Amino acid sequence: MGSIVEEGSIKIFGEKKEIVDRKMPVFYNPVMKLNRDISILLLSAFSGLDAVYRKQSTDKRRSSFRIADPLAGSGIRSLRFKKELKEGSIYEIHVNDLKPDYETYLKRNIELNNLNQEEFIIYNEDANLFLEKSAGFDYIDIDPFGSPNPFLDSAIRALRSEGILAVTATDTSALCGSYPGACKRKYWATPLRNHIMHEFGLRILIRKVQLIGLQYEKALIPVFSYAKDHYMRVFFLNTKSKKLCDEISKKHSFLILDEDIYGPVWTGDLWDDNLIEAMQREASILDKESLKFFNLLAEESKIKEFGFYDIHKLAKNNLKGNLPKFETIMNFLVSNGFKVSRTHFSPTGIKTDAPKDLVEKVLFSK
Ligand SMILES: C[S@@+](CC[C@H](N)C(=O)[O-])C[C@H]1O[C@@H](n2cnc3c(N)ncnc32)[C@H](O)[C@@H]1O
Repeated sequence: MGSIVEEGSIKIFGEKKEIVDRKMPVFYNPVMKLNRDISILLLSAFSGLDAVYRKQSTDKRRSSFRIADPLAGSGIRSLRFKKELKEGSIYEIHVNDLKPDYETYLKRNIELNNLNQEEFIIYNEDANLFLEKSAGFDYIDIDPFGSPNPFLDSAIRALRSEGILAVTATDTSALCGSYPGACKRKYWATPLRNHIMHEFGLRILIRKVQLIGLQYEKALIPVFSYAKDHYMRVFFLNTKSKKLCDEISKKHSFLILDEDIYGPVWTGDLWDDNLIEAMQREASILDKESLKFFNLLAEESKIKEFGFYDIHKLAKNNLKGNLPKFETIMNFLVSNGFKVSRTHFSPTGIKTDAPKDLVEKVLFSK
């Protein structure tokens, strides 16, 4: 535990390893810095959105977050929340991990960063037990190894109305179709194995989380979603509403492709426009790499389409001459009155509301 790692405004006792695994004495994964950066940006933006999302209240508890970090690992996420979120936006922060001697370890990190020990409520127990015993939270971050499934039920029950549930899934091989059987068992849907598999997998994950919410009449609407590297990440806004629950169910659909059936998946939006705008206003807190990724998502969020075109796949076999530049293709579609954006799901994809034959026209015309 001797060496020190720095991320954002925080230092922790730990190791920066190229390859991480669950047997590490303290789990710290540098690749997930962006995941934590985006969480901080979203919480910063969301706390300014009371008028849009959250019930107006003079009660301090309802205007600042009661945060739960049930699978905290090194604790870096909670430490960064405390240091980087605006003064007053955290009401309480509850940090838990099952690793032995967790309290001692986390207290050393709190001290290392000159933070106040009393501002962290530390637990060392099973995450489900921790959530079940709680009085409820406004923000719960489920960031497990692999699937979030074991923690969804207790997290959703502990989620307050107008609260946010953040979910990470790293079992992308199931969600993206390498193991269809595993996807059916774990996510109750048939995955797709083609160029849109990451978007499709993300939508499978969203529906699964929503189904758990529906049991408790909690409508979980995705407000910010993405797939990156080896993981998927979705932030849901919770509204206690039977009507909204029924509307969610209506947006769960199958996809029929070449006479095979895939899904069901969430067919609604992956991002909320108001939240994206609020995040854009705060985005200067991000470093260059995270900002680039966020800007791409913000651009893509304007196209309310399911799926995207893979330009290389479309061009295959039919192209006469060289592939036009992406910029040329996109300008052509815009000049024909359509919306268009690159997509974070694929470096060779474009999201657009233009019909396929128009995209092909620009590819195949000489
Ligand atoms: C992927 S790591 C968390 C990373 C952390 N959220 C971050 O941002 O760095 C998952 C953590 O969950 C903990 N864990 C696994 N199963 C648990 C359980 N049932 N209850 C509580 N903690 C658990 C592990 O000890 C590990 O530290």
